[in-house]
Amino acid sequence: MMIQNKVTNNIATLLFSVLMLTGCDNEQAENKLVSAEVNPKTNINIWPDLNIEVKQSNKIEEEISYLLSRMTIEQKVAQMIQPEIRDITVEDMRKYGFGSYLNGGGSFPNGNKHSTPEDWIKLAEAMYQASIDDSLDGSSIPTMWGTDAVHGHNNIVGATLFPHNIGLGATNNPALIEKIAEITSKEVMVTGIDWVFAPTVAVVRDDRWGRTYEGYSEDPEIVRSYSSAIVKGLQGHADKDFLSNKRVISSIKHFIGDGGTEAGDDQGDNISTEQTLFDIHGQGYVGGLTAGAQSVMASFNSWHGQKIHGNKYLLTDVLKNRMGFDGFVVGDWNGHGQIEGCTNDSCPQAINAGLDIFMVPTDVWKPLLENTIAQVRAGQISRARIDDAVSRILRVKLRAGIFAKPSPIARKFSGKTALIGAKAHREVAKQAVRESLVLLKNKNNLLPISAKQNILVVGDGADNIGKQSGGWSVTWQGTGNTNDDFPGATSIFQGIAEQVAIAGGTATLSADGSYQDKPDVAIVVYGEDPYAEGHGDLDDLDFQQGGNKHLSLLRSFKQQGIPVVSLFISGRPMWVNEELNASDAFVAVWLPGSEGSGIADVVLKDSNGNIQHDFKGKLSFSWPNSADQTMVNRNDASYSPLLPYGFGLTYGDKNVLLDNLKESTTITKKSPLNREIFTGSMKKPWQLRLFSGKEQIEVSSNTHQFSTVNYRTVDKKIQEDAFKITLDGGVRSGVKMVSESNFGQDLRVDLAAESALTFDIKLSKNFTDNIMLSMYCYNKDKCVASQNITGLLDQLPLNEWYTISVDLVCFSKNGVNLADVTTAFELSSAGQLEISLANIALIPNQKGRSSINCHH
Ligand code: BGC
Ligand code: BGC
Repeated sequence: MMIQNKVTNNIATLLFSVLMLTGCDNEQAENKLVSAEVNPKTNINIWPDLNIEVKQSNKIEEEISYLLSRMTIEQKVAQMIQPEIRDITVEDMRKYGFGSYLNGGGSFPNGNKHSTPEDWIKLAEAMYQASIDDSLDGSSIPTMWGTDAVHGHNNIVGATLFPHNIGLGATNNPALIEKIAEITSKEVMVTGIDWVFAPTVAVVRDDRWGRTYEGYSEDPEIVRSYSSAIVKGLQGHADKDFLSNKRVISSIKHFIGDGGTEAGDDQGDNISTEQTLFDIHGQGYVGGLTAGAQSVMASFNSWHGQKIHGNKYLLTDVLKNRMGFDGFVVGDWNGHGQIEGCTNDSCPQAINAGLDIFMVPTDVWKPLLENTIAQVRAGQISRARIDDAVSRILRVKLRAGIFAKPSPIARKFSGKTALIGAKAHREVAKQAVRESLVLLKNKNNLLPISAKQNILVVGDGADNIGKQSGGWSVTWQGTGNTNDDFPGATSIFQGIAEQVAIAGGTATLSADGSYQDKPDVAIVVYGEDPYAEGHGDLDDLDFQQGGNKHLSLLRSFKQQGIPVVSLFISGRPMWVNEELNASDAFVAVWLPGSEGSGIADVVLKDSNGNIQHDFKGKLSFSWPNSADQTMVNRNDASYSPLLPYGFGLTYGDKNVLLDNLKESTTITKKSPLNREIFTGSMKKPWQLRLFSGKEQIEVSSNTHQFSTVNYRTVDKKIQEDAFKITLDGGVRSGVKMVSESNFGQDLRVDLAAESALTFDIKLSKNFTDNIMLSMYCYNKDKCVASQNITGLLDQLPLNEWYTISVDLVCFSKNGVNLADVTTAFELSSAGQLEISLANIALIPNQKGRSSINCHH
């Protein structure tokens, strides 16, 4: 894995003598070997022929034939291309007439996180008008816009954010879930959008998976009933208001087996038998397709080594032919490019397997469109397959009234901005929060707490709406937000403080647990920081974020005789035995979303000392009894969780003893001293900033044009695990990673002498001036070191990824106090530069691997 295969020998030798380079592409080659595995023998009889409630109508089928008979190949293929708003203009839409388009997580009109609903409608209207303008492409078929409203209309500042699915699973209340979906469809329609990429019906088997919280349960039972409820809430009922002007199209995702990959690996391989694929992972489709879901999103994962996007048996034979699904299959984020033999810009295999729409959210939509047209002409894709795909797309558009409806700006809920985050909507979200809370421990009936007392509220989750909302909250990863990004929302602390004020008690927020008057009770709010998708994958379930700060707090309250309540924010059950032992009461609050005040409704008594709301939530995921019990699921042959599926105390229940749980773990951590700085998302405490001359901004979105710096996220191995910066030159500018608090960080990892700052880099163009890599402290004048890495980069071929490693000694020797670093990484130039970066970390035991020699 030392040297890239693509590098010529000459350069390779040259580079090798100067640099320590690690090829980063070889992983792909390894994947290929794995995927050579063959599918198991299949048996179509495992799958049911569903009685789908939405039937075909002659009128619509005739219209489809009529439209098809008048369409050119170009127009047909354009229906099958779904680009993303960052990569197309309205003029592209006019010229090509895409059948649909999307905005990805944290992608907004004009790249502006604070775009107003009016800005969204304006874009929707412009895209729609351009799509029906036939002056350039001869087509007047209206386009449609899809978005990830996965816990409310979560890309919009001010929207109602419901608890993530894991919390909804704990409520086990399909009627409530239907209401939530209906509200979501309304808020989505305010912004002129037609289609929602939800529900996720993954049945999550291994909780290390970064998308565990997107699943309702580890068991198919709740998933099946919810799937049907959500589809009805979004689309309306087949026999009532189906896809009326109050409803949006839904997509059940991700077909199929996403929750059952090996080791909970996002986009990994599911090796279950076909029977299990149906019994466990297929149940959400039974519920949702029967209710009439009009689209299904193909999954990134493989089944026995073969990517689902290219699996004809599952997409066509099973889903369409056997189960009778007559809507369309949309791909996931360049998922087609992962099929063996495909690239993002060319993949007849996917269409031939049964994919109807390519989700192609990067700038390769154009070659993909052109290649697909050429492949139809060359017979690599049959015309019949294209006609089938386009028929399905048109069928959904006709059913949804996309042709008949007024344009986005004139629709029923368009521009009714009062609906976004409306009080009535928030009330439903609050109810969901209350019902989702699961009480795991309540020693001496500590809860509910009298609101007349002196209550100390502590922990980094206490007054942090971003943290309580998790991923898919304004931004894709849910990071980079402050409470101001959630107008109208309440933090957990705010909810407590409000009620305590009314009852005449005191609630004090304390960052570090210190207090003036000894509190009657301490509420500590902590848990996982936000993440989405593969960025949330774990090696084990040991909760150890925040350097155990919360644990010493819990213990110190205990020592002082202050009763302590843990409110644990997380996207999955985790091994928290130490925290359970150290708490008198412990509540799993999951990821409650924007209505943090729902928690006070349950844990506090009202001002008359009465219970307001009892606990209702029950575990829809078994709680692990060790850090490596990552796959413990209801109905397992041998089942030994700490707390079983369905567990959840109510007031007055006898407490179960969770006081002397085993605290040691045998898991071996892989290099515990690695300190990641950027791995797709920024790791605490580091924050990403762009600077140009003396100006700087914090990166809070996946694209920024800031003065002379252009920033955008790009994909290296998985989505958005890298970013690209383009510098225009003229002034020193670049990117840096700064300690959030401006407090210096101690970087003396292991033995600093043998530790290194490492990062992956890819140059896209030749640069025009020196490139500096710097590290410094708060007092920059006295504590800074810069390495000129121009010579190093000069030798890199363009468009290849390389790993660069710089010993920390190179910085410390030149003046940086490694115990007190505020900027761990700064890359800058005064010239023009186009460069991508990934995997920035501090790694121990790097002796002899430095790309720069500074050990004289
Ligand atoms: C996710 C999907 C999502 C899509 C569009 C993908 O990365 O896997 O769940 O719908 O992006 O944003
Ligand atoms: C990101 C993606 C991600 C998507 C949702 C996007 O904005 O840009 O990489 O996959 O949201 O899945």
